[in-house]
Amino acid sequence: MNDYLDSINPKKSNDVIDSILEQAKELNTPIIQSDAINLLIQLIQTSKVQSVLEIGSAIAYSAIMMATFTNCKVFTIERDLDSYKRAIENIKKAKLEDRITIVHADALEYPMTEDYQFDLLFIDAAKAQYIKFFEKYEIFLKPNGIVVSDNLLFHGLVGHKELIESRNVKQLVRKIDGFNDYIINNPKYDTYIYNIGDGLSISIKK
Ligand SMILES: C[S@@+](CC[C@H](N)C(=O)[O-])C[C@H]1O[C@@H](n2cnc3c(N)ncnc32)[C@H](O)[C@@H]1O
Repeated sequence: MNDYLDSINPKKSNDVIDSILEQAKELNTPIIQSDAINLLIQLIQTSKVQSVLEIGSAIAYSAIMMATFTNCKVFTIERDLDSYKRAIENIKKAKLEDRITIVHADALEYPMTEDYQFDLLFIDAAKAQYIKFFEKYEIFLKPNGIVVSDNLLFHGLVGHKELIESRNVKQLVRKIDGFNDYIINNPKYDTYIYNIGDGLSISIKK
């Protein structure tokens, strides 16, 4: 089925994006999957999102996709220095310096000021910290803002814990499960978790 969808769906790409995809493969950098980024782009378009706050830039693939295929501005935070440097180069290559702001910091320590207000918060960083990211950054969302979180099924393991052998992975999956429970039951948001990409949630602030 996925081969069929890959063959029929339009490819959102250009030379810079192709080179970033190659880089991600070479460096083994985890990036958002194709169906998930396409859904996110359509959500940005249909909800008229103008500003995105992303936690976890990696090499700026998702930030560049969002800025290339919509009119939004992206503010993105990355703690790994090598990834941050590659992200800066990629943003330059894509000529998106005026639409993407990247910060080198641990998002849990970054002193974001309340002058910033975003339409959409995209959480795609350390999986064990999602509740902390959510609680720290939801205050920067505009009324009716949207939170999107990736990797909530973690390679299918969240729904199949019996397959996990490693203690560390078990612990991580338990944390992700805890976040899923937290957002689904958060009365301030309408949330649905989709079997798209590695598991993507959309939470709309009530
Ligand atoms: C899955 S990758 C991000 C992929 C990117 N959003 C994309 O789809 O192109 C996760 C990134 O989050 C970063 N990260 C993890 N914890 C972080 C934190 N506390 N603050 C900032 N970045 C963090 C990691 O260094 C890694 O590069």
